[in-house]
Amino acid sequence: MDEFELFVLARALHVLGVVLWIGGVAFVTLVLIPALIKLADKEQRLNLFEQLEGRFAFQARIVTVITGLAGFYMVEFMDIWHRYQQPEYWWMHLMTLVWTIFTLVLFVLEPLVLHRYFHNLATKNSERAFKILHRMHKILLSLSVIAVVGAVAGSHGFQF
Ligand code: HEM
Repeated sequence: MDEFELFVLARALHVLGVVLWIGGVAFVTLVLIPALIKLADKEQRLNLFEQLEGRFAFQARIVTVITGLAGFYMVEFMDIWHRYQQPEYWWMHLMTLVWTIFTLVLFVLEPLVLHRYFHNLATKNSERAFKILHRMHKILLSLSVIAVVGAVAGSHGFQF
């Protein structure tokens, strides 16, 4: 496999990663959390959430690493580090920001702080906990969707 083929493979892996990861975030935000909020039994709500989101977080961790590695490989191969200094490439900044936030949440904040914090809050005040959780997911999903649209348009020549 030559260098260019490796670059094409990185691009394909990058997009596959984005589909699995942001698609999962969309499902959790638009389907899972609203369905859980409608559940009357608060204990079951928390148990189900921890079980299902826990499985997704495992997949998301692997996919985030692959997407990031493939992304940085492309930046190096295309030699486009200078884009980080050009505001018209805001979608490069946004992609990288979204990746950084998810990496921090999945690898540092969730295991160290968020899991315990959310569990405690949901035990005391389930409605409030799930409302905050839903809001956070909506913010992250919105940023991700803007990054996807900006990145596809921008990397295919659209000048912002
Ligand atoms: C470490 C973080 C990331 C880096 C370094 C990175 C880097 C890149 C690079 C270099 C490209 C190709 C640009 C071009 O051809 O001009 C690209 C494309 C793309 N990226 Fe990222 N990316 C990152 C994270 C993300 C995230 C988090 C998303 C989704 C929210 C994303 C979505 C996309 C999409 C949809 C494309 C366009 C693919 C295409 O249409 O061919 N990237 N990325």
